[in-house]
Amino acid sequence: MQEQMAKMLISMAMACAAVAAVAAVVMVWQKFQKHSPCEQALVLLYEFRHACATPLHVLRQISEHMALEMQAGLDQPGGSQLTMLPTFIEKLPNGSEEGLFYALDLGGTNFRVLRCLLGGPEARVVKQEHEEVPIPRQLMLGTSEELFDFIAMRLITFMQREGPEFHRGCNLNDQQIRELGLTFSFPIRQTSINTGILIQWTKGFKITDGVGKDVVTMLQSAMDRQKGWPQIRVAVLINDTVGTLAGGHYWNDDVMIGMILGAGANACYVEGNLPNDIQTKSGKMVVNMELGGFWSSHLPRTDIDEQLDNESVNPGDAAFEKLIGGMYLGEIVRRLLLKMAQEARLFGGVTLTKLKQPFILVTPEMSKMHADDSPDLIVVGKVLRDVFDIGQTELPVRRIVHIVCDTVTKRSARLAAAGIVGILKKIGRDGWSDEVGVSGTLKPLRRNSERTARPELKRTIVAMDGSLYEHYNRFRIYMQAAVHELLSEAAARKLVIELSKDGSGVGASILAACHSERKHSAHT
Ligand code: BGC
Repeated sequence: MQEQMAKMLISMAMACAAVAAVAAVVMVWQKFQKHSPCEQALVLLYEFRHACATPLHVLRQISEHMALEMQAGLDQPGGSQLTMLPTFIEKLPNGSEEGLFYALDLGGTNFRVLRCLLGGPEARVVKQEHEEVPIPRQLMLGTSEELFDFIAMRLITFMQREGPEFHRGCNLNDQQIRELGLTFSFPIRQTSINTGILIQWTKGFKITDGVGKDVVTMLQSAMDRQKGWPQIRVAVLINDTVGTLAGGHYWNDDVMIGMILGAGANACYVEGNLPNDIQTKSGKMVVNMELGGFWSSHLPRTDIDEQLDNESVNPGDAAFEKLIGGMYLGEIVRRLLLKMAQEARLFGGVTLTKLKQPFILVTPEMSKMHADDSPDLIVVGKVLRDVFDIGQTELPVRRIVHIVCDTVTKRSARLAAAGIVGILKKIGRDGWSDEVGVSGTLKPLRRNSERTARPELKRTIVAMDGSLYEHYNRFRIYMQAAVHELLSEAAARKLVIELSKDGSGVGASILAACHSERKHSAHT
């Protein structure tokens, strides 16, 4: 009897608690409803900004973790999300290269073909010509054979237009095979300097095959299918970051890091502490980090980032790239604006058809909104109208949109900065590595009498390419500021980030010269 009574009381208490909880939710909901759409959107914005925050201590943890992951990826294939791919490039150009060389640069929605006549230490780049070809969308979603056939056809057409002015000083005739540097900006596991297996397609390419195949063979077979003149020999197969590093090193041997911040994000660097199974004459090799794959629990990810990842063509991969790459920034903004439209009616009763369309907001349009410093944010209003069909917005709404762009870009730029500092840390050029090793443990403090003078830090140049860095001013400013926050003063003075425009294409042709069968003339 007593037991039954107790059960009844418990059920009554549970029912009361449930009613109270529902009442509380209703009250909060009603309170929320009383606020204007802008006020409600501000709550969402506040939460988003909080989740995106990149205070200095978080950036430090990220750069520290980056250096550790780099080591883990080098120590053991698969030891880290950073694949740390050996490139087999030991020799970097030094300016002495001569002759006519071609490059093919594939890695985004366009590819570039390029020819370059190199004239040695005095004349340097005598002449170059290039052509940019958009890749039809269906080829990005088709088969590798269709993609390579298209590329081979355009490469051959370009090569057939080679003028005699490109033969000056290099004893070439029409019949001779042309040497080419192939820049292929997807993760590849190289097996030699000019062979490599595709690990996966990234950046929105969803080709049904190709993974696991040698990229150079795929291109060579497509060239063979085209038949006739000219023939090519792929002298080097490289990543775009490696082309950028090589293009920079051609002019200045302080260039130690090549980085791309464009649609995708990646970096490579000269590693002087190679694992035992990689033997090189110089003890050095360029390593392609595939930085976009970096993962750390310190990364400031939001529910929007998680949704984006889940719905992407490569869920679970390229976590860092999805936070910093130009391909994703506009999409993150779109998703947050959609959330604000649906949960707070930020844009009133307008139809949201366009706002619901993935990837409709490209980063250049987002950057235009962000750059808008007119008092009425006229450009923001125009982009909302042109891209999303959202006409007639009030100034407070446009202000919120502006802050959304700022938040997404600031996070991206500061994380990219942490990436650069992580690399400097790994190679002992961040100005602190004297005390903190890559293992992350503090070395025991030495007494003053034991301290030796720190060796003078070497100058380090990062050769940088990519539309995000080049064209998005506020991104660049935020990134540079964060690099300075993170580095010691001495290290900041020794670091130069240099725009190396289209370096990956020219760099590939110069590397082809460096590794030509005709002549060898370079050193690391
Ligand atoms: C690719 C890298 C490339 C980077 C920049 C990434 O998506 O995986 O190989 O270097 O984009 O183009």
